[in-house]
Amino acid sequence: MVGTRTVRRRQEPGNAADVVLGIESTAHTFGIAIIKGHDVIANITDSFTTESGGMIPAKVAQHHGDVYPSILARALEMAKEKAGIGIDDIRLIAYSEAPGIGHTLRIGAAVAKSLALRLRVPLVGVNHCIAHLEITRLVTRASDPVLLYCSGANTQVIAYDEGKYRIFGETLDTGVGNFLDTLARDMGLGFPGGPKIERLALNASADGRTPILISIPYSVKGMDVAFAGLQTNMLHKLKSGEFSKEDLAFSAQETVFAMLVETAERAMAHVGKEELVLGGGVGCNKRLQEMCRIMCEERGARFYCPENQYLVDNAAMIAWTGKLMFERGGVRTAVEDAAIKPYERTDDVNVTWR
Ligand code: ATP
Ligand code: FE2
Repeated sequence: MVGTRTVRRRQEPGNAADVVLGIESTAHTFGIAIIKGHDVIANITDSFTTESGGMIPAKVAQHHGDVYPSILARALEMAKEKAGIGIDDIRLIAYSEAPGIGHTLRIGAAVAKSLALRLRVPLVGVNHCIAHLEITRLVTRASDPVLLYCSGANTQVIAYDEGKYRIFGETLDTGVGNFLDTLARDMGLGFPGGPKIERLALNASADGRTPILISIPYSVKGMDVAFAGLQTNMLHKLKSGEFSKEDLAFSAQETVFAMLVETAERAMAHVGKEELVLGGGVGCNKRLQEMCRIMCEERGARFYCPENQYLVDNAAMIAWTGKLMFERGGVRTAVEDAAIKPYERTDDVNVTWR
């Protein structure tokens, strides 16, 4: 823990930040990670969950405020145990400043600012969506991939082009994870709903049963996707009692994942990139991974998927991206200017580190 003793060391001049502490708090997950060089030493998270119903921003923020001291303590303990790293070895604090829920972003920013002041080290604010892409480049062999980023609030197809991570396609309304979470909630299941829908979809073909692919709207508009109409349609079908939950879950997955894979493929063809990576919690879904893999095989491209701890919201990606921004991009965030940017878009950020 930070403790009360006087901090001995200051950040050396220059751009090197060997040990970085990252903080993630854009939505339902609070996380702290410590990285050294290219190695993730500790990556601790605690996510807000419910048995039934969705998430209320103030309650999630309270969760983050409650758990952060123990998360910090666990990350520091692990760093000490695994690499002999102590709190005074930390050379940079990186935090997720955007985009996300204002209530929860504020908790992470406050923790980051107080740690930067206490340790007298620089601070860097990181865009969470970009961090999903950068951590995937670190932990897979992908060098210049198209990212299919599928989380609760976000659904975007992103790739690097001329100084920015550009959005080539995105949802016109809600994120695919929110769509799955709402469907699960309508079925009386808790949050997060994505894994519950995945399980139901698998059960649709359990015991040799053949799942029924129910016709639901397929909503791709140019490079973009939309889920709101689909959501209403599924609710009507659920209420009608005509279909089993298993078949509805199976059909929802087959339809929305096909929409996502189609836009990702179109973006790959458009920008001429031959690598696809997945990011975001929905990327944990095995059927989505399989569909991406098949699409890439068919077009002679490569598909990379990081392990789940780097797909879901995590602080390692914030620490790593902060390190890149600081060391290679010359980015610094003065404590007095450290803000939260709930609505910042991926392509608002100048990528100075590539
Ligand atoms: P962001 O702030 O980037 O929008 P987030 O808060 O939504 O992220 P993530 O951990 O990236 O957090 O994603 C959470 C989403 O992933 C939830 O909607 C959850 O239901 C979904 N999810 C998790 N596991 C699975 C799975 N196996 N299949 C489908 N969806 C999943
Ligand atoms: Fe995320």
